[in-house]
Amino acid sequence: MSVSVQTRSLLGHCTAVLFMLLLNTLLVEAHTIQLPRATARSKGRERISLNEGWKFSRFTFNPDSLSYSTLKPWILPSANDFIKGPEHQPPSGTPPGRNVTYVQASFDDSSWEGLNLPHDWAIKGPFNAPGISGGMGRLPTNGVGWYRRKVTVAPEDKGKSIFLDIDGAMSYSAVWVNGRLVGGWPYGYASFRLDLTQHLKVGGDNMLAIRLDNAADNSRWYPGAGIYRNVWLIKTSPAHVTQYGTFITTPDVSDGSATVNLAVEVQNDASSDQAVKVETEIRVLDGATGQPGTDVVAKFSPATIRVPAGQKKSVSSSTRVKNPRLWGPAPAQTPNMYVAMTTLSAKGTILDTYETPFGIRSVSYDGNKGVSINGKPVRIWGTCNHGDHGALGVAFNTRAAERQLSMLQEMGSNSFRTSHNPPTPELLDLADRMGFMVVDEIFDAWNVAKTSHDFSSLFPDWHEPDLRAFIRRDRNHPSIIAWSFGNELGEQSAAAGGATAQSLRVILLSEDPTRPTTAAMNVAGPGTALASALDIISLNYQGEGHGTSTNGSFAAFHAAYPDKVIWSSESASTVSTRGTYVFPVTSANSAIVGPGSGLNESALQVSAYELYHPSWASSPDKVFAAHDRNPYVAGEFVWTGWDYLGEPTPYDSPAGVSGGARSSYFGIIDLAGFRKDRFYLYQARWRPELPVAHILPHWTWPERVGLETPVHVFSSGDEAELFVNGNSAGRVKRGQYEYRFRWNKVVYQPGEVKVVAYKGGKEWAVDVKRTVGEAKGLNMTADRTTIRGDGDDLSFVTVAVVDENGDTVPRASNAITFSVSGPGQIVATDNGDPADMTAFPSLTRKAFSGLSLAVVRADKGASGDITVSASASGLKGARVTLKAR
Ligand code: GAL
Repeated sequence: MSVSVQTRSLLGHCTAVLFMLLLNTLLVEAHTIQLPRATARSKGRERISLNEGWKFSRFTFNPDSLSYSTLKPWILPSANDFIKGPEHQPPSGTPPGRNVTYVQASFDDSSWEGLNLPHDWAIKGPFNAPGISGGMGRLPTNGVGWYRRKVTVAPEDKGKSIFLDIDGAMSYSAVWVNGRLVGGWPYGYASFRLDLTQHLKVGGDNMLAIRLDNAADNSRWYPGAGIYRNVWLIKTSPAHVTQYGTFITTPDVSDGSATVNLAVEVQNDASSDQAVKVETEIRVLDGATGQPGTDVVAKFSPATIRVPAGQKKSVSSSTRVKNPRLWGPAPAQTPNMYVAMTTLSAKGTILDTYETPFGIRSVSYDGNKGVSINGKPVRIWGTCNHGDHGALGVAFNTRAAERQLSMLQEMGSNSFRTSHNPPTPELLDLADRMGFMVVDEIFDAWNVAKTSHDFSSLFPDWHEPDLRAFIRRDRNHPSIIAWSFGNELGEQSAAAGGATAQSLRVILLSEDPTRPTTAAMNVAGPGTALASALDIISLNYQGEGHGTSTNGSFAAFHAAYPDKVIWSSESASTVSTRGTYVFPVTSANSAIVGPGSGLNESALQVSAYELYHPSWASSPDKVFAAHDRNPYVAGEFVWTGWDYLGEPTPYDSPAGVSGGARSSYFGIIDLAGFRKDRFYLYQARWRPELPVAHILPHWTWPERVGLETPVHVFSSGDEAELFVNGNSAGRVKRGQYEYRFRWNKVVYQPGEVKVVAYKGGKEWAVDVKRTVGEAKGLNMTADRTTIRGDGDDLSFVTVAVVDENGDTVPRASNAITFSVSGPGQIVATDNGDPADMTAFPSLTRKAFSGLSLAVVRADKGASGDITVSASASGLKGARVTLKAR
C-alpha cells in the first residue's frame, strides 16, 4: 500500500484513491527492474564484481604522510586515454607509498572493519562530526580511508589484459597493487579504469590497497565518503573493445526505418599486430529483465581491421532498423531499448564480446516549441537531485534509486538533472528503462572555488579527462537529452566564463556531436559571453525572477536567443517540512522565508503551506505562472525532487556551531520518502488527466479552536467547493495564473473539511481531512512484501501512528522501536525530519508528523519470511512479514 494513501484521509475520494492504488501497483510491479550486477561472463571477456570482502579503516589524521600533491605525478597518467595533448609520463624512480604498511600484503588488517561495497563510511554518523558544516550534513565524511582486498588471479589468466574499474570513490583515489602505486583519479564522482595487467601476479594472490582522502570542506552538500559505487575486475584478450569503446548514434529516425551508426574502438595490447574481425548485431533489450531478445533485428557489415601492437583502431559502420520500436519518455511514449552485441574474432576464435544498450530516437530543440522527441513536443517536467539515498547515504543501491524515480514518475515527472555531477552509471540505466529524459551534468565549479577544497583546484589538470571520460561513458544512453558542463559558476558573468565554456564545448562536441551543451546560470544575463556560448539557455531562478520579484529574465533571453531552447534548470527551491503548518499564513503566492514568515524556529521547521522560499527562489505557483506567461519556456527542473543530506537552508550553520539541521527542506518528497503536500501541487499540474484533490493542512488543531486556519487545495480540477463540517465555505473557480484553491478565512472547529473539485462542471475529485483522535497504535506497511534474497534488494517499511479509526495522528512523535527476525536486517531508519540528529542505523526512531521508516534488506542467499516489528510505549504494536526469494 502506498504512503500517499496513508497520509491522506480515505473517506470520500474513492475515484482518486482507486486510481492511485492501481497506479502504484503498476509502478511497483513494473519497476522491479533488475540491472546486471555481480559476475557477468561472456565469451572472451569477464566482468567480475569486486564488491565483496574488503577491509577498511578511516583516519581523522593523515596516517601515512601521503598527499595528492606528492602522488599527483603518478596519478595524472591514469588520464592519458582522455587527453588530446601530450601524454603524462610518470616520473622515473619508485612511486610513493611503497613503505606505507597498508599497501603491503604482510600488514595485519584483522582489526579493520570488514565490509562489502558500495560503502559510505560517513552515513552511520554520529551527527555533529567535528569540523563538518550543516551544508555538508554534519556527518563524518572527512579524513583518510584505506580499503584493502586480496585479488586472486588464476594461472589460466596468463596473457590476458586485466583492468580495475571503479565506478566512483569519494575522493582522491590512489591505488596500489602489490605495494606499487598504479594510478588513481581525484574527482569523487568520476568513473575510472586502471590497467593492472603489468602489476598483477598471475597464478597467485595480489594485494589491492586503495587510499581515499576527503577534506572537511570539499562540498556544498553531503558528498558521502568511501568507495560508494561498484568496483569491477575486467579480464579480456589482449585485443579487445576499449573502455567505453562503442558509440552509437541514430541520425535519421522515422516510424518506418532508422539509421543506426556505430563506431567500435579496438585496443591491441599484444606485442604483434593483430587482424581483428568486428561484427555487431542488434537485438531488442527487454526492459524488465535487462536481457537481450533472441531475434536479430539488424546487422552491421563485418569489417576486419589490422590493429598495430600496443595501439588502438576504430571502425565505423551503419545499418538500418526497419519499423523501429522508438525510445521515448514515459508516459506519453515508450522507452524501448535495443542492444548492440559486438564480437571481435581472429581466424574464427572469439576474442571479445561487448554489449552496448541503446535506444532509437530523435530529439529536436526549438526556441519556441521546446524539446520534441521523435517529432512530438514534450514539456520538461523535471527535478534536480543529488545522488544520496537519504538514510542509506551515497552507497549506491539500485532499488533505492528506482524507488526515488518511481515516486517522481508517479508525480508526473518525466526528466531529471544530475545536479551537479556525473551520476552512478546504473542511474542512467534506470532512466533509459523507465523513460526519463536526463540532463547529465558534470561540474559545480570551474576555476573559481565555491568551497575551499572543491573541484576548482583540480580544474586545470582534470577538466579535460573528466569531461571526455564522462561523455564517453554516458553517450549511448537514449535518456540523455543535453550535457551540462557547469552550475552557477563563479565566473559566469565574466569574460572568463565565456572562454571556459567555449573550450569545454569544443571538447564535448568532439566526443559527442549529437547533443546540445548547457550550463546553469543564476545571474549571468543575456549579454554575457557564457550565455552566447551555450546551445541551451539554462536558467536557475532568474527566469521567473528571484524572490518576490516578478521581473524575470525569460523574455530578455528569448529576445536575445530566439532559436535557443530556454528552460528552468533550477526552479522553486521552496522550503518546507512535511506536516508542519505555521500561522499566520502569507496571503501572497510566494514569500521569502524568515522569522515571522513560515518558520518554526524552535523546532527547526518550515511551514508546509508550500509558499516559502529563500531570497533567490520562488514558490511553485510563481514559477508556474511565469512559465505560462512565457510559453516558449520548455519546462523546469525543480530544486529538488527529493530532500537530500546537507544544505539545510534555512537552518544551515557552519562547522562547530550547534543548533542547525542535517538535511534539506527543498524536496517535494522528504528524506524518508514521504510525500510533502507539494507533491500533489506538481502532480495536479503534470498529470492534468488524473483526478487529484489534496487538502492542507491536517485538521487536528485543539489549540486553534475559533482561530482562522486557511485551507488550501491542490487539484487538477478547475473549480472547487470546500465544506467545513458540512457547511459550504464557497465554490471558487481557479483564475488564470492561479494554481491552488484558497479559503483564507476558515475558522477551525474540530470535525472535517471536505473539498469537491470539478472539471468542466463535472465532479472530478474529492478529499477529506478530519480531526484525528489520540494515538492508539501503529500501522505498518511495506512498499514491497517480496524481495530478492541477494543481500542488496530492499523493502521500505512505513509505520504510522494511528488513532482508533486507523487514521494517522498528524503530529505524533512517539519513539518507535523496530526489530527484525528471519534472514534480513534493518539497515537504517528515518522519519523525514531534517533536524533529527539520531544516527541513521538506530533501531529506535521517533515518528515525525506521524510517520517513521525502516529500510529492510534481505541477507544474501536468504529465502523465507522476514518479520519486521514495531513497538512504542502505550501503543498497540504492529508487524509485517516480507518474503525473501
Ligand atoms: C542553487 C544551487 C543548488 C542549491 C540551490 C538551493 O543556487 O545551484 O546547488 O544550492 O541553490 O536553493
